[in-house]
Amino acid sequence: MSFLDRPCPVICAPMAGASTPALAAAVSSAGGLGFLAAGYLSAAAMADEVAAYRALCDAPVAVNLFTPQVDRTLELAPSLAAYRATLEPVAARLGTTPGEPVHDTDAFEEKVAWLVANPVDAVSLTFGSVPPESVAALQAVGTRIGFTVTSAHEAQQAAGLGADFLIAQGFEAGGHRGPWNVSDVPNTLTAVEVTRAVASATGLPVMAAGGVDGPEAVRALLAAGAESVAAGTLFLACEESRAPAAHKAALASGEFTSAVVTRAFSGRFARALVNDFVREYDGTAPSAYPNVHHMTKPIRAAAAAAGDVQAMALWAGAGVGRARFTRAAEVVSALNG
Ligand SMILES: Cc1cc2nc3c(=O)[nH]c(=O)nc-3n(C[C@H](O)[C@H](O)[C@H](O)COP(=O)(O)O)c2cc1C
Repeated sequence: MSFLDRPCPVICAPMAGASTPALAAAVSSAGGLGFLAAGYLSAAAMADEVAAYRALCDAPVAVNLFTPQVDRTLELAPSLAAYRATLEPVAARLGTTPGEPVHDTDAFEEKVAWLVANPVDAVSLTFGSVPPESVAALQAVGTRIGFTVTSAHEAQQAAGLGADFLIAQGFEAGGHRGPWNVSDVPNTLTAVEVTRAVASATGLPVMAAGGVDGPEAVRALLAAGAESVAAGTLFLACEESRAPAAHKAALASGEFTSAVVTRAFSGRFARALVNDFVREYDGTAPSAYPNVHHMTKPIRAAAAAAGDVQAMALWAGAGVGRARFTRAAEVVSALNG
């Protein structure tokens, strides 16, 4: 990634709930760059992760934040209540209850304030626009700002906000898709197509993501105009990831054969392996994020604690077939081909 002068173009994508300082540092120490995922963390927990990463390696520090979302709590109250009622049986089976359908900003302002006071090298922003003052404040302390985009239109919006780089995310990506509008059905452009489109629309450096399953995919994305290539799912099953053990086992087992994009877990479209939860709830969750995330959180946590793969969010990208238990450095060298 030329703008942070890394020897190798392989990036470990930010993965809220799975990234760790050890995972990011392992990838950075192998010559690539590992992102710290600050989504769902408090500002204090993010600060601890940055400190832990710095203790493990001397490489640049890159942090990902979720951007604040439009609050649809009142607008969608009836469908949120109805969805919550449908979640009660699976929650009861796991000995818990659905969470309240609350909205929050994921402590975005607090995290930006901490990052302004304690600068890092790069911050990527996922799920859309932010106030221009946030971008300016971070850039003023020397931080490069990137936005996750899924189309040329979003890339132009990011450029208008002063982005220094873009993360071009294709439909293959595991976990959350990054369309800027919560109610948009994500497009089906491949990572190669999004990379070409956003590079030519803006001329900004592009980090490509989605479905990276081997060195051929890395080469294809670099040839399409990416400066660096991010993988998520391949790192998810690594020892250094904090994905639940049952999730790692499901990725590596080959038992689950398809990964679909569904709103069922969070209210935003995200790619997960098809299990009973997806079969039952796909298509019925309202597009209110993070409200739905908060409702399913106790269910996902109880399922993970019980090792119940049928009620967990088994996030995975289209390259899931190549995910293996291994060490992150081995994934970097395999991708670097
Ligand atoms: C478990 C999981 C969690 C994720 N969390 C985040 C996140 O916190 N922020 C973000 O920008 N992208 C997140 N993503 C998306 C990745 O950054 C990346 O776009 C995706 O993993 C690339 O596709 P791949 O999984 O096919 O390699 C997540 C993906 C996964 C699999």
